[in-house]
Amino acid sequence: MYAQVLDQNDSGVKSREDMSEQEQIFQARIDAGEKIEPKDWMPDAYRAMLIRQIGQHAHSEIVGQLPEGNWITRAPTLERKAILLAKVQDEAGHGLYLYAAAETLGVSRDQLTEMLHQGRMKYSSIFNYPTLTWADIGAVGWLVDGAAIMNQVPLQRTSYGPYARAMVRICKEESFHQRQGFAIMMKMANGNDAQRRMAQDALDRMWFPSLMMFGPPDKDSTHSTRSMAWRIKINGNDELRQKFVDQTAPQIEFLSLTCPDNNLKWNEEKQGYDYTDPDWKEFFAVLKGNGPCNKERLGARVKAWEDGAWVRDGLMAHARKNAARTVAKGENENVQ
Ligand SMILES: [Fe+2]
Ligand SMILES: [Fe+2]
Repeated sequence: MYAQVLDQNDSGVKSREDMSEQEQIFQARIDAGEKIEPKDWMPDAYRAMLIRQIGQHAHSEIVGQLPEGNWITRAPTLERKAILLAKVQDEAGHGLYLYAAAETLGVSRDQLTEMLHQGRMKYSSIFNYPTLTWADIGAVGWLVDGAAIMNQVPLQRTSYGPYARAMVRICKEESFHQRQGFAIMMKMANGNDAQRRMAQDALDRMWFPSLMMFGPPDKDSTHSTRSMAWRIKINGNDELRQKFVDQTAPQIEFLSLTCPDNNLKWNEEKQGYDYTDPDWKEFFAVLKGNGPCNKERLGARVKAWEDGAWVRDGLMAHARKNAARTVAKGENENVQ
């Protein structure tokens, strides 16, 4: 039912006079910092906006396993393999929490999956870039999980209860992910010449796509105003991107690597780094499905869904048998 609502554009913010009494009470609860829970009344557009955001977030966790899963069998040591395996499993868990949070809004996991497969829902554009070397696994943990934390920490205070609570757990695990990525980068950056080159090359390729993870500039972001009024989103895209650059620039220096952005420099006046925006044309092209790995990623998800059909069928048949047995047992007990 909410699938149709999802395709609509809902960027406008209603003024208080245009709100119904119910909407005014709802907005007042959000303004007072109260959490909205699944059984509470909520505007259809709030529900739809949350389904889109949580659904896309869930898809990103699941699709995000693919570029890293690619390296589990090729991790350089047993220890690194165990760490990476744990990290990729965490991402599966994040996807599950988020699908479960979305389900409380009245959309099933199957519906969300179908929308992903039909291209009606997206996942983070970063996962359409390939992981070419082991250093990329370091850069992904350091930069991609680092950007994810920056986006997700404020979401622990988002207005929808189940989403906010899922974020608390997820953020704890994300900081482990970021540290393991940075640990790989340290190893590579302090290694031999070839390893240093791999670390630099990974940073060169991942830097701008990481900046894209905060979304387009606020002035071009269609849903920002309304989602901020509803506290589905807490900070602007540009603000978080700046925070990420400010946090990451000294880490690049610490690794003795060079940022691929020549304009990156400390600005005393604004107490932050100046930097070059990523190429937004590239961002929108990747979003439209024309990134280096879009087809491969979606193809892998569709294949996994189809290959897993027999497992889902088997589980459903088992559940039906169990339910029938419980009913039969209940009837017998009633007879006695
Ligand atoms: Fe995650
Ligand atoms: Fe992560």
